[in-house]
Amino acid sequence: MAASYVRNLWYMAAWEEEVPQEGVLTRTLLDEPRLIYRLSDGSYAILADRCPHRFAPLSRGRRDGDRIVCGYHGLTFAADGHCVRNPFSDRVPPNTQVSSWPIVARYGALWFWPGEAERADPSLIPDFSLLDAPAPIVRGRTWMAANYEFITDNLMDLSHAEFLHIETFGTNGALFDGQHSATKDETGAVWSNWWMPATRPPVWAESMVPEGGKVDQWLEMRWHAPASMALFIGMAHAGTDRQDLVIPAMANPHIITPETATSSHYFFTREPGERAEAMARQVFDEEDRPMIEAVQRSMGDKDFWDERPVILNVDAAAVRARRRLAQLRREEAGEAALEMAE
Ligand code: FES
Ligand SMILES: [Fe+2]
Repeated sequence: MAASYVRNLWYMAAWEEEVPQEGVLTRTLLDEPRLIYRLSDGSYAILADRCPHRFAPLSRGRRDGDRIVCGYHGLTFAADGHCVRNPFSDRVPPNTQVSSWPIVARYGALWFWPGEAERADPSLIPDFSLLDAPAPIVRGRTWMAANYEFITDNLMDLSHAEFLHIETFGTNGALFDGQHSATKDETGAVWSNWWMPATRPPVWAESMVPEGGKVDQWLEMRWHAPASMALFIGMAHAGTDRQDLVIPAMANPHIITPETATSSHYFFTREPGERAEAMARQVFDEEDRPMIEAVQRSMGDKDFWDERPVILNVDAAAVRARRRLAQLRREEAGEAALEMAE
């Protein structure tokens, strides 16, 4: 699949805590190997992991303060990518530099902007203040051999819980009785909302509700381009206007960043502890990942729309997210064409 990414967007590159105090973090993002490191003032840099001399990965070199010294012939680069030293001459050949991009730390995550630097406005980073909650969380990352849009399909259409997550989420058929809506908000986010009033509680919550009692449940997934999602979950005793909660309301990030056209980084959080770890492992490793990767294999490099997918009412929000991304792609392609014509 020819990768065509929307460039002028914030993509999550890593959790801040993944970046070592010394040294660098290397990660392929949008098909390109990159290195990320922490600067002495506490900010971050992201550079292409490729020296412009003989194309050695710069991550095979070493740090010299905020600079990177190539491990092959010693060209030295500043955090903005400019070559600042040639050990064999007083002169650095003009325009010797590696690519660098804007990168911002927010909510414990690092966001980078692979597009035009002057358009990188940090106020466009989606609101993930849910990550600032005081409760302890484990910040995790997993990997899937699938295009990121198949993962968006999965998350924006949670009806699959009734089939794929029977053992873990035990939704007890609540989604079949629920109402789904797809909406858009003023930030440009697409929402995929499930409202399941007066339903049987999930299997794991049955003991928290009086015998035969009903609950109102909601599952609301928010999507920002390219694939930065947040899931808000709640369960209240039926008919209490979402007030008398059975469990505290939960909010979790599901942030996907393409590694390549057919593989993706998946950033998530979970509660600490062995039970939550085992649950996350089962959901990812035994349920979602095998299915999403099988979808990727079944699709190969075919275009999603060319294959004329059946559209169900429950996947309206997933479709909207795909359409919005396609629109952004077209807009960028249009701008690029215009620039070439000028
Ligand atoms: S490859 Fe980096 S200095 Fe030669
Ligand atoms: Fe799932």
